[in-house]
Amino acid sequence: MAGFKKKRGRGTGFGKIILFGEHFVVYNLPSIASAIGDRTVTEIEPSDKYELVDRRPATEGYKDKKKGEMERSMKLLLDFMKIDVRKHPVRITLSGNLFCTSGIGASAAMATSIARAFSDMLGLNLNDEQINRISYEGEKGSVGTPSGIDNTCATYGGLLWFVKGMDGGRNTMEHIVLPEPVEVVLGSTGISQETKEVVADVRRQMEDDEVKFRRLFTEYGALANEARNALESDDLKKVGKLMDRNHELLREMNMSCDEAEEIIKAAKGADALGAKISGTGRGGYTISLTPGKALQDKVAKAIEEKGYRVLKTIIGN
Ligand code: MEV
Repeated sequence: MAGFKKKRGRGTGFGKIILFGEHFVVYNLPSIASAIGDRTVTEIEPSDKYELVDRRPATEGYKDKKKGEMERSMKLLLDFMKIDVRKHPVRITLSGNLFCTSGIGASAAMATSIARAFSDMLGLNLNDEQINRISYEGEKGSVGTPSGIDNTCATYGGLLWFVKGMDGGRNTMEHIVLPEPVEVVLGSTGISQETKEVVADVRRQMEDDEVKFRRLFTEYGALANEARNALESDDLKKVGKLMDRNHELLREMNMSCDEAEEIIKAAKGADALGAKISGTGRGGYTISLTPGKALQDKVAKAIEEKGYRVLKTIIGN
């Protein structure tokens, strides 16, 4: 590792939310995801021993559940950057306003922010493509076979159309421009899942029933293209219907859970245009499409009344 150019390094990474295509995206189908304004901040300083201080706000049990993932990610990321923290001990402090729970891209936000902080401290001046590549390496510790969507959102921000490259080839990433930013409500089930285990389970299910998965993949592929057109032409009613259908496909893959269903029912009951799980599934976050501040508040209230934590945010700004 090169000597420290600065006494400290600082970097940030965005959280994300998936509108369409979690899990499908691992199998080279398109996904649509958006970074959110909330982010993780990493600060690094030399120390007499290696220390990781985690001050990120998080749902109860998240940090314990994710301990293994986090250690794997950190090792992969540091090895990839050829940083030896035993030879050059540092204190890495994680903070920021991204409330960590499954489904919000917290592991990718962490990896991106650490890569940026080391780049800053070591004077490497890494560009976004290089930071994204490092963050992807960290994601392998969390997801096993990540699509790359989470680290891409964490690094670039914005609303993205993302397709994983075939056989390790280049990914496609395009920014989607909305006529107007749109309000959404994220509802947290409070349940954390190990993404790696859930992704592996989808693969097992697919190997057990290839015919079913071929049908799901074909329907989803058409749906993703329709969703992009609907978003770009401001047809939010259609976007909502397609989100509902995407959720039904995910339900067929056993990706939902009682808590997510309760949130989605409350959101739909309060007139959300569409609602689905977002991210890993079997817990984590749900996303509801709620254009306009009044509808956003109404849906958020309905979810909160059921006892769930919400985050109100905007996509496409
Ligand atoms: C996790 O946020 C999204 C998954 O599709 C995994 C991935 O794309 O790497 C479940």
